[in-house]
Amino acid sequence: MLRQSTYAVLCGILLLSVNAAGADETTQESIDTLAALGYPTPTENELVHIPPTMEDLAEAKLHPQLKRVIRRGYDLFTNTQQLRGENVFNNMNCSSCHLGAGRMPFSAPIWPAAVTLPDFRGKNAHVNNLEERIAGCFTYSMNGIPPDYGSDNMLALAAYHHWLAKGVALYPQQAIYGRGFPAPDRPEELSYARGEAAFQVKCSVCHGANGQGLRVDDQTVFPATWGDSSYNWGAGMVRLFTATGFIKNNMPLGQPNSLDDQEAWDIAYYMSSQERPQDPRYTGDIKETLEQTREPFHKHSLYGQVRETDGHLLGAHRNLGGKPFLKPDTVRARTFE
Ligand code: HEC
Ligand code: HEC
Repeated sequence: MLRQSTYAVLCGILLLSVNAAGADETTQESIDTLAALGYPTPTENELVHIPPTMEDLAEAKLHPQLKRVIRRGYDLFTNTQQLRGENVFNNMNCSSCHLGAGRMPFSAPIWPAAVTLPDFRGKNAHVNNLEERIAGCFTYSMNGIPPDYGSDNMLALAAYHHWLAKGVALYPQQAIYGRGFPAPDRPEELSYARGEAAFQVKCSVCHGANGQGLRVDDQTVFPATWGDSSYNWGAGMVRLFTATGFIKNNMPLGQPNSLDDQEAWDIAYYMSSQERPQDPRYTGDIKETLEQTREPFHKHSLYGQVRETDGHLLGAHRNLGGKPFLKPDTVRARTFE
């Protein structure tokens, strides 16, 4: 209970207006609260940034039209289901994985992308800009197809990312505090059985015994952790270390850092041993797809591996989830030649 109420305070503090408290004070208060919740404190060289809130936006000296567009980006980020059937073909909102509307440290806060891109990205082996990075999460995490580059919705989402990065210098040389989903070291062995037991006790109350989540009146209450309504086999979350980092730092919701490292890895291993929609990079053959994607990606997932409990070959299917196509044409090579 204590943890849960501290977490509520944390969200409140992160929601504090920077203008009201002064930037340094807000940052220090947020770090203290994060530390009390079991998150590491920043090392000396890390860049710490507490993103502004939507309340701060009301006060900001920005053109009213820009404020409108940023608000639209926020609305799309937190209720991405409004694009269902158009760009989104599962039960996710962007904020299903990027907690606190993309502002929470250790929950892959989204603002770093606005200050570190364009940059080379190993996953697709070329230089990506912010729109292409957003497109990546639409393609894989939302099992969908991105809004067109330059479209109103893409511009609004990009504007929201930029707003959260307000005041940070471009191309910072320091490591960024709380970026991504940092995972604890991998223990020697992982157990499917232990993971399953822990998931049923600590997670299924919200995500369902079969990972199906809960949807009420066309709104996602609890997102699906696997199955047709979840992210596809190409999503960053299928990497074991990413799922572990997410879970350890963020789940069960409201009790971050409450699982021990072994437990977080076991649960991620169990969750990642279940089926989900096909990877959009699928060539029609699992072995060939694996060869092409192993190095930058699938060496970290269980895709193409035999599940130890029943011999099922993971990912060997043509199931696209709720989507009528395999691969959006934004997934393509770029050469600049
Ligand atoms: C199923 C979970 C999931 C969903 C849903 C999701 N993302 Fe992500 N996102 C990730 C993961 C995993 C990463 C990679 C984090 C890392 O660096 O390890 C990521 C990274 C990002 C980044 C880069 C952050 C950085 O540090 O550079 C941006 C920007 C982003 N996502 C935007 C979005 C947007 C916009 C949406 C909705 C259209 C979305 N994401 C939906 C899981 C998700
Ligand atoms: C009290 C309800 C609750 C519990 C318990 C809970 N979660 Fe979640 N989980 C959520 C909600 C809600 C979200 C989406 C966040 C949002 O929309 O704000 C989420 C998001 C997720 C996601 C990212 C989106 C997806 O569905 O893939 C994963 C993975 C996840 N939870 C795994 C777990 C695991 C593993 C446990 C147990 C250790 C767990 N959760 C316990 C409510 C819960």
